[in-house]
Amino acid sequence: MNYFDGKAFSRDWTSHHIPVWEQLLRERAHEPLRVLEVGSFEGRSALFFLQFLPNCHLTCIDTFEGSVEHRTAGSRHHTKMAEVEARFDANTLPFAHRLEKLKAFSIEALSELQRASRRFDIVYVDGDHHAASAFTDAQQSWDLLATGGVMILDDYLWQPTKPAPERPKAGIDAFLQARSGEYEILHQDYQVIIRKSWRPSQHAAASDLTIGGRSIAEFSGGSIKPPLVSFVVINWNYARYVGVTIDSIKRQDYPHFECLVINNGSTDDSAEVIARHVAGDSRFTVANLPENLGQLGAAFWSLDRIKGGFVTFVDADDVLFDNYASMHVQAHLALPQSVAFTSSSVAETDARGNILASGSVAGSQGQTRNLHAQDSVLRLPTVSHEDFQQLSARTALVPKSASGWHWNPGTANMYRASHLRLVRRGGEARYMRSADGYFNFMCHGFGGSALIDIVLSGYRLHGENAFSNHESSPSLRSGTPEYYRLAQEATLTDIDFLLANAGRYVWILDGGFWSVLDLITRETPKRLRRFYCDPRVFEIFLANAPKLAAEFRSRVFCREILARYSGSQARKILRAGFGGKLKPRAYGEMALSWLRRARSMMRKRNSQQPVGRHLLFHTSIWEGGNRAYRAHSSGPAGWEML
Ligand SMILES: C[S@@+](CC[C@H](N)C(=O)[O-])C[C@H]1O[C@@H](n2cnc3c(N)ncnc32)[C@H](O)[C@@H]1O
Repeated sequence: MNYFDGKAFSRDWTSHHIPVWEQLLRERAHEPLRVLEVGSFEGRSALFFLQFLPNCHLTCIDTFEGSVEHRTAGSRHHTKMAEVEARFDANTLPFAHRLEKLKAFSIEALSELQRASRRFDIVYVDGDHHAASAFTDAQQSWDLLATGGVMILDDYLWQPTKPAPERPKAGIDAFLQARSGEYEILHQDYQVIIRKSWRPSQHAAASDLTIGGRSIAEFSGGSIKPPLVSFVVINWNYARYVGVTIDSIKRQDYPHFECLVINNGSTDDSAEVIARHVAGDSRFTVANLPENLGQLGAAFWSLDRIKGGFVTFVDADDVLFDNYASMHVQAHLALPQSVAFTSSSVAETDARGNILASGSVAGSQGQTRNLHAQDSVLRLPTVSHEDFQQLSARTALVPKSASGWHWNPGTANMYRASHLRLVRRGGEARYMRSADGYFNFMCHGFGGSALIDIVLSGYRLHGENAFSNHESSPSLRSGTPEYYRLAQEATLTDIDFLLANAGRYVWILDGGFWSVLDLITRETPKRLRRFYCDPRVFEIFLANAPKLAAEFRSRVFCREILARYSGSQARKILRAGFGGKLKPRAYGEMALSWLRRARSMMRKRNSQQPVGRHLLFHTSIWEGGNRAYRAHSSGPAGWEML
């Protein structure tokens, strides 16, 4: 194509670059691309863009005062700039409807475009030749360039004998170094051509979040930002691992995060290791606590200090993969319904980091899979098209009613901060138990959860994990007996907490109070009744009976108690609820309950089928292959940092 027939020019610095440009831009030539040009002169490069990209919109920035060499009398480049501008206008006139001319210094025009949250798919930098100007033009334009966009930097090898500050090379080199890791080089010769990669580092513009291919910042005038993720590293005497853990957070490709490192009363040299690894990184804050609050205690403590909408408690012996936050946040933003937390698969490693197994949260055939379509959800630039498709195929909602443990431990979980605060416990400062062992059951009961069957972190088995003393295996319990006993005791406190706070939670859970209660027992439906009849659980019910009776209508209170208790235990709880005396309603409900139980027993005897959707779910779906669930199904899970 001859782009310049019938046009008027005094110079040609451009035509010989065109074959390379055509080759690199051909693939997207017919898209409605947004092109930005810094330095237009008579419009030669502008005419190329306008014709080779027939659906593009071009923004041209030029002072039309020329660079130093154009203004210097006697220079062979000396030019009458008023004529140059007139030629630009005449040459580009047929394309005026796709052209925006900004007659200004680039530093001002680019700032203005930034303020307006503008975005471009192609940027051509061909303005002032001083190294400092080349650097500033490239830096400012980079923030305007969409992920996947192409930047062409002209004059990299211009006049090599001139002093370095007077030619672009040093400025372009400084820019490339400052943005290293954020681009791939497509071409390097007299011009440098780069593509903004899918994984920008922490410098990525927050406004790169898109919907339907358009920048959210553009839609919202810059007022809407991507979710802030809070990492909370809870470290107790893991000086030997915590540095590697912190480094893995620093490497996150998701730019919008903060990290609070809690040194939880350590007595080893953790404080120095932590200080060394976070030094100079303003995203990190360190809290050295004088005593060990326990992992859950420290997690509760952190909730007043973090600002993120999404939170991951990072075990100080684990390692996050660099796409951990991106994939979790993207799943949260694209799930068909919101969940309290997402849980991803882990690579189980030995103490030195050698992989032993890939602990999977899979096995959820029959679950609701698939995220919303890419173009209808908020899309992160750090999750490529292919990664999104993978994520969609491998993310499943856990049914709200599903009992048992379905998730991977600790670091593998990203919670909504609002749900953590909803189930947060006050009173004591110390909770010597795992954060996930508490939060996963409670949060799942309150808001549901989803599994991401993609390995996004490493879980280190080093012989001191109480939760697991070997890689997960379908037929073996992984925790220690001591852990199991302590977990059972912790469960009792959870039951007590929920019942004692019935006044608040009955309203919030909107009819779901009793099923959440069943869920946090960690028991299968078959074993629930036996669990409730345990004298310690009975005592908890007895103590909370007046509160429950006050919260529910008499009929509901009687039915729910009788669904869990019979005989003298039931009568005692009902009596305590009704202030010492059984109401006639209670006698009626007791008779009904007896009849219901007798009928259900007869049905069971007549049929081999398991009854109840919980039981069905367990046997037919999860036991198909969920190793995490099976390994821990016989007891509560998630116990560390004791
Ligand atoms: C080399 S010419 C551009 C050539 C043009 N791209 C082409 O293909 O013919 C450089 C242009 O940059 C403009 N320029 C120089 N310094 C500038 C600045 N600080 N802000 C805006 N424009 C500038 C000059 O006015 C000049 O027109």
